[in-house]
Amino acid sequence: MTPKTPAEIGGMGHSVKRKEDPRFIRGQGTYVDDIVLPDMLYLDIVRSPYAHATIKSIDTSKALAIPGVLAVITGKDLAQYNLHWMPTLMSDTQMVLPVDKVMYQAQEVAAVLATERYIAADGADAVEVDYDPLPVVVDPKKALLPDAPVLRTDKPDKKDNHIWHWEWGDRAATDQAFKEAEVTVKEDIYIPRIHVSSIETCGCVASFDKVKGKLTVWMTTQAPHAIRTVFALVAGHVGLAEHKIQIISPDIGGGFGGKVPVYPGYVIAVAASVLTGKPVKWIEDRMENIQADSFARDYHITAELAGKKDGQLTALRIKTIADHGYTDAAANPSKFPAGLFHICTGSYDLKAAHVEVDGVYTNKPPGGIAYRCSFRVTEAVHAIERMADLMAHEIGMDPAEFRIKNFIKPEQFPYKSALGWEYDSGDYAGALHKAMEKIGYAELKKEQAEKRKRGELMGIGISSFTEIVGAGPSKHFDILGLKMFDSAEIRIHPTGKAIARFGTKSQGQGHETTYAQIIAEELGIPVDDIAVEEGDTDTAPYGLGTYASRSTPTAGAAGAVAARKIRDKAKKIAAYLLEAHEDDLEWEPGKFFVKGSPDRAKTIQEISLAAYTNHPQGMEAGLEAVSYYDPPNLTYPFGSYICVVDIDKGTGEVKVRRFVAVDDCGNIINPMIVEGQIHGGLTMGLGPSLYEEIQYDESGNILQGSFMNYLLPTAVETPNWETDKTCTPSPHHPLGAKGVGESATVGAPAAIVNAVVDALWHLGVRHIDIPITPPKVWKLLRENGVTE
Ligand code: CDP
Repeated sequence: MTPKTPAEIGGMGHSVKRKEDPRFIRGQGTYVDDIVLPDMLYLDIVRSPYAHATIKSIDTSKALAIPGVLAVITGKDLAQYNLHWMPTLMSDTQMVLPVDKVMYQAQEVAAVLATERYIAADGADAVEVDYDPLPVVVDPKKALLPDAPVLRTDKPDKKDNHIWHWEWGDRAATDQAFKEAEVTVKEDIYIPRIHVSSIETCGCVASFDKVKGKLTVWMTTQAPHAIRTVFALVAGHVGLAEHKIQIISPDIGGGFGGKVPVYPGYVIAVAASVLTGKPVKWIEDRMENIQADSFARDYHITAELAGKKDGQLTALRIKTIADHGYTDAAANPSKFPAGLFHICTGSYDLKAAHVEVDGVYTNKPPGGIAYRCSFRVTEAVHAIERMADLMAHEIGMDPAEFRIKNFIKPEQFPYKSALGWEYDSGDYAGALHKAMEKIGYAELKKEQAEKRKRGELMGIGISSFTEIVGAGPSKHFDILGLKMFDSAEIRIHPTGKAIARFGTKSQGQGHETTYAQIIAEELGIPVDDIAVEEGDTDTAPYGLGTYASRSTPTAGAAGAVAARKIRDKAKKIAAYLLEAHEDDLEWEPGKFFVKGSPDRAKTIQEISLAAYTNHPQGMEAGLEAVSYYDPPNLTYPFGSYICVVDIDKGTGEVKVRRFVAVDDCGNIINPMIVEGQIHGGLTMGLGPSLYEEIQYDESGNILQGSFMNYLLPTAVETPNWETDKTCTPSPHHPLGAKGVGESATVGAPAAIVNAVVDALWHLGVRHIDIPITPPKVWKLLRENGVTE
């Protein structure tokens, strides 16, 4: 898209340097742990070594004897205020602190309040808890067996570990299509638990002012307004009303969905501050973060695809067991317990589909957060892209040709999927052709054939994914009843400078820059003259926050709509100043002028001044507007990724030799930021594909509880990403933009797995679960006589 604004204004399509970077690269950001208040106390948490156990007693005497330790808070203390349990975002219940039993290893058991952080930690070590271990259930399939111990004994009517059953689509039509199919493929696909591992762990500073009766909480949250409302609802009975709660989400070092839930540490810190009247800081350490905070994925999928011998797909059937840990604390829109997993028909024109998911309790930390993904979209994309590849290989058709044959065609948009979603726009073949050209697909195929003759293992994998991002619309989407719209409020000062506040909260995505660009685009005010603020509930308009790539589709749209309201008023003021009729005025970025007389013009800065000094009588003074934008539909970004891998026959190591990513997020606000989002997203797709997994042994002990064995990709493992784009604007978004923040994380893993399976297909390998570690591949090679 060619920018409509000059570089000095810096509207859409300009790679404006990020306004936030000068403070970040100088180490001058303000993160929660940078907040230091007078008389601040520190909280540290005692955690359970057992995955399932009765608490017989808690002896706090040794901890309390340490100078500087002020209190040890237990579940029994919180129970006096009915604060020992809290609701989850999925209307389940979660312990703040347990009264009688623990449900997973590393669960919060008690909290120590002290004058210094290290004293609090010493205090936590000195608390003695006597546990009586209980039988542990870690496998969700075993959890469903009739003789499995019932885990949620706090729910008197609960007689098993099944949480919910959810299904979607036309079962009869799907079954019929499978009966009539000439070819079917079926595969079990496990998408393991992983952890978001943001650079900044979670934490807060809670400060209750007893005189004003006001609670201020600086916290690592992606959704400050929703948190304020939840706090008011949960703690209203102890006097915390919503107008007396201020949540401030300062700079955040990565969220990726992991900073959406409310963790017990936040609640305990708030309770401790309310009780003591002093500020209380709680900051997780790295191992607490990885062992106890919400996890992502853990989906056991059985997928089946039906089609004809000529490669025409007809139907998809999926059954899934979702391991949610001991409580359903997933951050999903209320109506969708399995998130937007029903985007699993992907980029393909299927006639029928049916999907079922069953949520299950196990003795693990709560899971189900949307790891850089719009609620289970990664799981859905992985399933359909693996299955499409499997089918193509099964019938001996080139996977690219197979996809092109089955893609939804550009003229079919808006397209109603077999599972009922209305895709806004797309040109899937366009993106795939571009990726094939960029990577030299035909030559790579020849190279692979040559290498296979020589016994070398090289694979080419494609992932042509479609995402669904930007929740609302509010008629379908809410979280705990809070409708999923988002907001912007813009105020133009007399000198033509502006401040704009949004209901979302950047965690590193660069909103201060891109939101300013949206306003610059609409009003012609230079980006440098626009201050953007988010994350303070006392000042920002109400919004549902930033996750699921929703900021551009919702708050970004609200910014454009609010700016347009201001432009409408500016036009009236310009007409008055120019003594012209409004209909005779034309707009170009930054000024209104009289048609045919470009010299008779008023700049937005002149108009701003007039709004406060010389506005027409009868019109309200000032120049500001607010928009609560309820999107009419979601946006459907997409892309085609092609990955080339070489496999070391001796070690089983997979090396990503090339990776081409062609993305389409409609009109782009800032190409440099989008490029950055894609680079980061691809690396966060590489990690779970090759390295990352959280596992538990039979006793519920976490096996990857630190970065010593939970492997994140570093610059050494990360290949040189080759990116490109196509542009298919969203027809309903005011700027034609779609979200992009998560596309690469969602799309990348399937391309990598497909490449590895492609390299090994001739050996009889049909599927490998991620992460594809060297031992897994080495074992397959050994079984197939390739290596000794
Ligand atoms: O909600 P979140 O910010 O994580 O996701 P997003 O809306 O996809 O935006 C991620 C970043 O990319 C933001 O800074 C957006 O403004 C920017 N972006 C863009 O420049 N053009 C687009 N079409 C989409 C996003």
